[in-house]
Amino acid sequence: MSISTAFGIIGYPIGHSISPTFQQAALDSLAIGAEYQAYEVDPDDVRSFVASLRADAVTGINVTVPHKEAVMPFLDEIDDWAAEAGAVNTIVNRSGHLTGHNTDGYGFLRALRESGDFDPAGKTVLILGAGGSARGVVQALLRADIGALTIANRTLARAQSLADLADARGVESRAMSLPSPEASLAARSADLIVNCTSLGMRHGPDEAASPLRRDEIPPTALVYDLVYNPMLTPLLRVADDAGAKTLGGISMLVYQGAASFQIWLDRPAPVDVMMDAALTAMRQREATE
Ligand SMILES: NC(=O)c1ccc[n+]([C@@H]2O[C@H](COP(=O)([O-])OP(=O)(O)OC[C@H]3O[C@@H](n4cnc5c(N)ncnc54)[C@H](OP(=O)(O)O)[C@@H]3O)[C@@H](O)[C@H]2O)c1
Repeated sequence: MSISTAFGIIGYPIGHSISPTFQQAALDSLAIGAEYQAYEVDPDDVRSFVASLRADAVTGINVTVPHKEAVMPFLDEIDDWAAEAGAVNTIVNRSGHLTGHNTDGYGFLRALRESGDFDPAGKTVLILGAGGSARGVVQALLRADIGALTIANRTLARAQSLADLADARGVESRAMSLPSPEASLAARSADLIVNCTSLGMRHGPDEAASPLRRDEIPPTALVYDLVYNPMLTPLLRVADDAGAKTLGGISMLVYQGAASFQIWLDRPAPVDVMMDAALTAMRQREATE
């Protein structure tokens, strides 16, 4: 089949992304005959890159750090999730009309339910971090009828603004500093702990750090780390030692990508193919790094 359409991801830098690997595997498994490419786009060139999508035979683009907010003014339409998140991770091009979506929150929830086997309804949740991913996670949890929410962050003011958002949506929420004695207490009584900080991320400045100690994690909790490189993060190690259930960030990455695929092509994504390809890519990377 000839290539009549194309897909890709933009970021800066972009070499670390495994989206090209698992999205290409999905396209190939359905014999769609399209290419998914990585584009390293300098922040100064975001406007012209987005403009080029209208003319080019590009159907869909994923957007990653640091362009998720920057692309928004250049799109024709923004869906509800993206407007609420203040960030776009998926663009679809329909005859030159560009719509921005955000599938991060959906991917987070699907991974929580399907890979973590966890129903968040009525549960007590502790979010660590208050950056871009925390916002998407809070947005998703507010749609899932959670019971109570605590947000702990190094910069208290950012945690407070997320807690205010949740309060306004009718979910009892508290903000606190991380680390702090209050955050320790909140962890000890949480059903679900989600790490949305960059602590533990490979090649980051805090690669060996965990946002919580082993003695702060209850064995009854599910500990969900959005960091996916490495697959076994410092937090997941201590959570495992504490006897808690754990979930890494790969499944969220795959489920948000599967949701993008479905938006672009209006057909279900081959999630199993994508998950296999993502896990294989991560294992290969970990073996060589
Ligand atoms: N699995 C997935 O699909 C997925 C999706 C999105 C993101 N992620 C991962 O999630 C992580 C966060 O991404 P993001 O987009 O939310 O990043 P971000 O917007 O830059 O936010 C980073 C967060 O980490 C906190 N932080 C950074 N260094 C810290 C330190 N030394 N001590 C305590 N807190 C620290 C920041 O606190 P301050 O507010 O105080 O700066 C902030 O809350 C990244 O590792 C990313 O790869 C995974």
